[in-house]
Amino acid sequence: MLNRETSKLYDDLERVLLGREEIAARVAELGAEITRDYAGKTPLCVGILKGATPFYCDLIRCIDLKLTMDFMATSSYGSATKSSGVVRLLKDLDHDILGRDVVIIEDIVDSGVTLQYLKENLKGRGAASIKICTLLDKPARRRVDLKPDYCGFVIEDAFVVGYGLDYDEVYRNLPDIGVLKEEVYTK
Ligand code: IMP
Ligand code: MG
Repeated sequence: MLNRETSKLYDDLERVLLGREEIAARVAELGAEITRDYAGKTPLCVGILKGATPFYCDLIRCIDLKLTMDFMATSSYGSATKSSGVVRLLKDLDHDILGRDVVIIEDIVDSGVTLQYLKENLKGRGAASIKICTLLDKPARRRVDLKPDYCGFVIEDAFVVGYGLDYDEVYRNLPDIGVLKEEVYTK
């Protein structure tokens, strides 16, 4: 794992918001919660590429149930730090979800537009249930009525990177989550 003290990537952060230990502890709690709620079921864990991947990999290893994996990818047009509200499906599920208990696993809910789109998109496919698990929630920026069923951390309205979250596709490999220096994206 990258060393926070010596990695140059950290020079672009204003500060670390959530450290790796704190994230790991919360992910374990979420896994335990999902394990309890889905007892006796075989949930289908749908990860949203690419931002959710570190969270997804850590979370499923904290869910003590039979489960299956699938992925979707979306993109929203707009500037790098603000989504446009127009969502495009880049990759669909590989498998049918008829009768399945679907858990959508996402990195962050910001405006909520992406998840609202995904939920609506999956609704017509006959799933037994659809729930949302997000690592981060920025409720201050919500533009649609969407509440995640599971949430790791509610955060302030700041642009964050790391642990899967990117700016212009970079910083996803940071093990911690930090606030990006404004000068990095206003340059
Ligand atoms: P929404 O549709 O506005 O809820 O945006 C969701 C997507 O925007 C997330 O999946 C992220 O890819 C991106 N996003 C929103 N806020 C941040 C942030 O603070 N850092 C990095 N990406 C973000
Ligand atoms: Mg992104």
